[in-house]
Amino acid sequence: MKIKISPSILSADFGALNKDIEEIQSHCDQIHVDVMDGHFVPNITIGAPVVKCLTTALPLNVHLMIENPEKYIEDFAKAGSDRIVVHVEACKDLRAVLEQIKELDVENGVSIKPGTSVSEIKDVLDIVDEVLVMTVEPGFGGQSFMEDMLPKIKELRELGFEGDIGIDGGINADTARLCREAGANLLIAGSYIFGAENRVDAIYSLRG
Ligand code: DX5
Ligand code: ZN
Repeated sequence: MKIKISPSILSADFGALNKDIEEIQSHCDQIHVDVMDGHFVPNITIGAPVVKCLTTALPLNVHLMIENPEKYIEDFAKAGSDRIVVHVEACKDLRAVLEQIKELDVENGVSIKPGTSVSEIKDVLDIVDEVLVMTVEPGFGGQSFMEDMLPKIKELRELGFEGDIGIDGGINADTARLCREAGANLLIAGSYIFGAENRVDAIYSLRG
C-alpha cells in the first residue's frame, strides 16, 4: 500500500497556516487538521471558519476531537473538509454519524484513543474510509509514541480492513518505520515535521 504523509498543522504557526502549508505541500499527500473543543480533550484549537481559510489544494483530513460531533459535521463539510474523522468515544450512534458524513459527500473515518480496543469499531469497518489509531492521548502535540498500540494495526488488517490505517501521535522516522511494518499506510506527524530544521527532509524520512 502506498504510504501517505499527513502533516498535522497543530504544530505549525497558527498565524501563518497557509504559508507553512505552502512550503511543504508538494512533498506530502494531505493535511491533518486537529479540532479540539476543550471537553473531549483538555485543549482548544480551531473550528470550521479557520478550516475554510485554508487555501491548499491538498485534501484536508479533519480530526474531530470534540463531543457531539454530529452537530458540527455539516459546518466542517461546508468549510471544505475532504475527510472527517470522529472519535468512537464521542459518538452515541457511531454508524449514524459515519453515514451522516458520507451523505455530505465527504470521506469518513473513526479514531480510537489508546484505551479503546479495535473491537469497539469492528461493526462499522464496512462503511469506513479510515481508522485512525491514536498512539498518544489526544490533546497535545509533542508527546511520546505508545508502542503498545502497534498490535491494533495488525488486528485491523487481520479483520480484513483495507482502508487507510492512520497513526497519530509521536511519529518520527523510527516510529514511522514500526507503523509501516505493522501495516499502517497513513502517517500523521506534527512536531517532527514543523519542528524540524528541514521540514521537507523530515517528510521524506517518514516514507522509508
Ligand atoms: C494530538 C493530535 C495530533 C498531534 C500529533 O491529539 O491529534 O494530530 O498533532 O502531534 P505529534 O506528531 O507532535 O505527536
Ligand atoms: Zn490528530
